Amino acid sequence: RQFGKFGPLVGAVDAGTCNVKFMVFAANTSEVLTYHQVTIKRFSPQEGWVEQDALELYNAVFECIEVTADNLQKLDINPADVVGIGVANQRETTIVWNSNTGQPLYSAIAWLDVRTSKIVDDLIKVKGVQSANAVSQISGLPLSTYFSSVKLKWLLQNVPAVKEALAAGQCLAGTVDSWLIWNLTGGPHGGIHVTDVTNASRTQLMSLKNLQWDKNLLRFFEIPPQILPKIKSSAEIYGYVSSGSLCGIPIAGCLGDQQAALVGQNCMRFGQAKCTFGTGCFLLYNTGDSIVHSRHGLLTTVAYQLGADVPPVYALEGAVAIAGDTLEWLRDGLEILGEVRDSAELAASVDDEDNLYFVPAFNGLYTPYWKRDARGIMCGLTPSSSRAHLVRGALEAVSQQVAAAAAALAADGAPLARLLADGGMAQNGTMMQMAADVLGVPVIRPLMTESTALGAAAAAGRALRVWPAFCAPPPADTFLPAINDEEREMRRARWEQALQRCMSWTE
Ligand code: G3P
Repeated sequence: RQFGKFGPLVGAVDAGTCNVKFMVFAANTSEVLTYHQVTIKRFSPQEGWVEQDALELYNAVFECIEVTADNLQKLDINPADVVGIGVANQRETTIVWNSNTGQPLYSAIAWLDVRTSKIVDDLIKVKGVQSANAVSQISGLPLSTYFSSVKLKWLLQNVPAVKEALAAGQCLAGTVDSWLIWNLTGGPHGGIHVTDVTNASRTQLMSLKNLQWDKNLLRFFEIPPQILPKIKSSAEIYGYVSSGSLCGIPIAGCLGDQQAALVGQNCMRFGQAKCTFGTGCFLLYNTGDSIVHSRHGLLTTVAYQLGADVPPVYALEGAVAIAGDTLEWLRDGLEILGEVRDSAELAASVDDEDNLYFVPAFNGLYTPYWKRDARGIMCGLTPSSSRAHLVRGALEAVSQQVAAAAAALAADGAPLARLLADGGMAQNGTMMQMAADVLGVPVIRPLMTESTALGAAAAAGRALRVWPAFCAPPPADTFLPAINDEEREMRRARWEQALQRCMSWTE
């Protein structure tokens, strides 16, 4: 059929932890024609608990699609030129809902939530270290509060509405992608209950080898398989949007947001790596068709599977729980930062950290430490410490944690030659320079840093045969390391000292 001047268009939902966006790309390009974004709330009813409202998540997606479709019309672009939609989402966050009413049975338990600490401890105690190691072998993930397995276990054990719906055969569970696709494709009146291999690989219930829910893992966590979605590839038609301006459009791509960014950065070859600086910060290294088990605390995950008939590609991942979140805390919690974007200039206004080291382990530490009982700490405060030093310390903390993930990669035999950066925080030039300094490799930032949405759109476009070639947006800035080895080692040593002091805080 005839398309307008931009040819076929592809939409992408990017449902992150802090914001939901819908972006429209001209197929086969990284050109964003228009988008809309909505901020998402988080609740913390108890220390360590992090929840979101599942209905708010879906309503935000719907609103973003509607406003974007309206924007298209204002730009004289026909929304009917949108041939498909890809979905990228915050991973691990777990939602249970009633298949009859479509109502969530509890809040979404966010990936950062650590209420399952005791479940993790008990599982190790009762089932033994050997069984816990077997879980890691099959799923690629260590036992941790981070993954959906224990969140779902908590929901099944503690929420009466979940128990009742399960008994009545009306309980459905899933990660954010499943919840969104189920609602977008019809909700209670025929929604489709699916997930993709990348999201499923973060539930800790899927076998990395055969890409199916694994009987041993389901038994270990005591999860009834009938409540889980069907696992699909990351690029195929799952179903069709059932209402609103894009009614009838196929949803044809789905990836966890970090894997989507890997695709969006075109890291499609063995050894290519990207780091997305968002709420958290996630370094993914493409290992091709090999499932590589790290000996240094990295996660093994599915990177993508671009079609039901093509083999999956895997990745090693370094996950940092708190990155951009630190700046939001400095803005909203301590109120010492006007806007997050001011952090670049403020941090650059002082030459060094003034020996102030800040470990924002608000909800424990992930890669490579895996310390769920660590909590944040600031070391080296003196009367000369200023808010600029504190902001600089926050950026240093992100850089040091990325560097620790890179060091784990190197120790596993996969050293980084350079790092592609993206995500909201990548717009912070001071942050990018500090990352290059601390990592000791060039950090390259593309012109368009919305790699997550781009990857989801590209996957959908591939399934619909309108996006034959993947190509990354052109690089815009290269940040070269500007400190010598001695300074790098000194900063590393200081950071390590602060880190040691924040471990086992809650014990
Ligand atoms: O694993 C959690 C991750 O997917 C969250 O991503 O973009 O919200 O920091 P983001």
